[in-house]
Amino acid sequence: MTVIGLGPMGQAMVRTFLDHGHPTTVWNRTAARADDVVARGAVLAATPAEAVAASELVVLSLTDFAAMYEILGDVHDELKGRVVVNLSSDTPERSREAAEWLAERGAELLVGGIMVPAVLVGTEAAFVFYSGPRAVFDAHEPALRRIGRPDYRGTDHGLAQLYYQALLDLFLTTHVAFLHAAALVGTAGESATTFAPYAVQNLELLAQLVPAEAAAIDADDHPGDQGTVAMMGATAEHVLAATRSAGLADGLPAAVHEIYRRAIAAGLATSAASSMIDVIRTP
Ligand SMILES: NC(=O)c1ccc[n+]([C@@H]2O[C@H](COP(=O)([O-])OP(=O)(O)OC[C@H]3O[C@@H](n4cnc5c(N)ncnc54)[C@H](OP(=O)(O)O)[C@@H]3O)[C@@H](O)[C@H]2O)c1
Repeated sequence: MTVIGLGPMGQAMVRTFLDHGHPTTVWNRTAARADDVVARGAVLAATPAEAVAASELVVLSLTDFAAMYEILGDVHDELKGRVVVNLSSDTPERSREAAEWLAERGAELLVGGIMVPAVLVGTEAAFVFYSGPRAVFDAHEPALRRIGRPDYRGTDHGLAQLYYQALLDLFLTTHVAFLHAAALVGTAGESATTFAPYAVQNLELLAQLVPAEAAAIDADDHPGDQGTVAMMGATAEHVLAATRSAGLADGLPAAVHEIYRRAIAAGLATSAASSMIDVIRTP
């Protein structure tokens, strides 16, 4: 196979393919980044066209989809009959556009989203969302399995990045929330390490609530018998006020407070907080 893009993620994938005995051709804009994988047995192509010509399966691990156009923009005949697996982060819409662009050049696209850091590629913990033509996915699933457990989401090319971005939305926001909370306790001289076990307990509670929240969203049923938007909105205001009086950046709690404020204005005060998804759906 061919791997184009040798950042930490691309290099980890190449190492995994080589470890499993797959002959692997590589190309990277900055050629020196290929040194380690070439020492392990990868073949360095001189040009993107040569890299594409070398294998039916062409894996891209780039910063975004724009980099794909820069690299493959001048590659034409070599793309015919190729399967391009783009594992770069980008939007669902750009994933769909990329499928059309490659189809015009006679290539099929599978889009993927790797859900673990580079150090976990090829381990039991690794899993990767895929979307695109089912038959193309099935044909290459055994090779792709080397990267991590494949999780095929459907034929719409946008789905893999939709799931990827949704989970990154959850991860990035929660991570910044932890930093914010650590800064808040830190204003009283409490260390982040002292706070950490409480944060872990809190995140575990949140994880336990997710299935019931999801069921409420899908059923559009939000009884406020255990807690209401009004009650939690008052707390959101307290978090914001505590943040401001502590002199911290208030963007995150202000954004959360604003969602509660809008939910109450929309008549959801006595509903459960899961009802606020409607406020998010109608910005
Ligand atoms: N690293 C992780 O732990 C991780 C985890 C999950 C998902 N991902 C995703 O995996 C992808 C790759 O990650 P990475 O950590 O390996 O990223 P990276 O270090 O930023 O590497 C990006 C690669 O893209 C190339 N590139 C960027 N812009 C280019 C352009 N205009 N023309 C040609 N080449 C270009 C870089 O080439 P140069 O070497 O020449 O700069 C490099 O090979 C990203 O989409 C990332 O979101 C990464």
